[in-house]
Amino acid sequence: PIYDDYFFNKSAYDYHDGGYIPLEVYDAPAQPLNIPSILKPDKETDTDVWLTVHAQPGETQIVPGAKTKTWGYNQSLLGQTIVFQSGKTYHVTLKNSLPELTTFHWHGLDVPGPFIDGGCHAPVYPGEPKEITFKVNQPAATTWLHAHPCPLTGWDVWHGLAAMAYVKDEHEESLPIPHNYGIDDIPVILQDRRFHENNQWDYDADYDPDGVAGPTALINGTVNPEFDVTTQKLRVRFLDGANRREWRLHLSDDLVMTQVASDGGLLPKPVKMTKFMITCAERAEFILDFKDYKAGDKVTLYSDDTPILTFNIKEFAADNTELPATLADTSYPDPEPDAHIHQVVMSGTDEEVMLNGRKFGMMRIDDRQELGKSEYWDITNTNDCCGGMLHPYHMHGGSFQIVSRDGKAPYPNELGYKDTVSVNPGETVRVKMRFNYEGVFMYHCHIIEHEDGGMMAQMQVWTKEEPEKKYDLMAMDTL
Ligand code: C2O
Ligand code: CU
Ligand code: CU
Repeated sequence: PIYDDYFFNKSAYDYHDGGYIPLEVYDAPAQPLNIPSILKPDKETDTDVWLTVHAQPGETQIVPGAKTKTWGYNQSLLGQTIVFQSGKTYHVTLKNSLPELTTFHWHGLDVPGPFIDGGCHAPVYPGEPKEITFKVNQPAATTWLHAHPCPLTGWDVWHGLAAMAYVKDEHEESLPIPHNYGIDDIPVILQDRRFHENNQWDYDADYDPDGVAGPTALINGTVNPEFDVTTQKLRVRFLDGANRREWRLHLSDDLVMTQVASDGGLLPKPVKMTKFMITCAERAEFILDFKDYKAGDKVTLYSDDTPILTFNIKEFAADNTELPATLADTSYPDPEPDAHIHQVVMSGTDEEVMLNGRKFGMMRIDDRQELGKSEYWDITNTNDCCGGMLHPYHMHGGSFQIVSRDGKAPYPNELGYKDTVSVNPGETVRVKMRFNYEGVFMYHCHIIEHEDGGMMAQMQVWTKEEPEKKYDLMAMDTL
């Protein structure tokens, strides 16, 4: 089948929000889509890699006229793409040249918490670099790095602190899908901003407790981007890196997009669709096949009715490779029959947002799960349908599998590993989650202002050896 709807409840789409800001085409010439370079290791052996990730302020020429003051990782805006090879050990030096503390959160990487994970409890102060060491051991996936200082995650990400972090493995490399970074395998980071006087961004002026948005689509940091397609097949790795915006994506001519991966890696089988909605922090990889186009044609990517990226079709060689019918084994262990079922209730909108009836507490452990055990988590959004919002629920500490939506089967493209799942108003989504590393981990709505506003909690993944292990948690008021 070819799916031609967005799956989610229309009545909860962000454009029903009173503060909704529609996308508009910015009045400036088209520019080549920015493809971040790949971060070069400082040093490398067969088993270990040393990297430096440097959060820095800068200025970026985004639109004609004045440069915009921005933040980035190893560049002035967003970041160089980090590539991890599953099986290797990484020694990452975290440097901060910003005027304030930040953290480096590996969203989607399976690493111990709370310090390596880089959530709220892992500050890196200006001028005081830290080194973290971890082994990457998970299937190939599109993960990402973003800042996560609570409650200023929205502020940091809005300034530009977000970057792609790919995990590679041999299985994914062996598949007949595009692998040439920047040529036929491209990152597409979806964000939106408002350009104020002198082309500056102004988070405080644009602040909305239901999520900060702007009218201009910013794709990999490019306004009005176009990309030259030189191969018949193009792999597009989407990341919704916006603070609040959902993107309802479709292509001109209703060109079919074949989804091959979600947050945690390859789907069990490819899924074909003409419409796809991505919510905050989700990733999705698609193969686009331009076989019916010829040099000189253009294919446009839209979100709702606004064009956000143009593909300029160039000469390409015919490519008859077929996608495999099975992409990956995504089986996931079932919980034991008497296992505890965790409850997560996301309620409210605006300043009233809460998780399980409370606002986030930095020093409070809200839930516990044993290392290595699979358990169900029931995630409920108690917003009512009309005027309620979709809340994209995210868990640190690994990937889960979606079991059901209100007791029914998940959407057809939700059968792979996920770390973020959008929950409709009034709906309960059941996921099964297993942690492979111990530590304290956050779980929250990924509308970043909801997370900063307290729709967040934290759990401890405990071990038999040390069930009550104490971590040096950071109190909010030390910020
Ligand atoms: Cu994308 Cu708590 O993170
Ligand atoms: Cu995360
Ligand atoms: Cu939310």
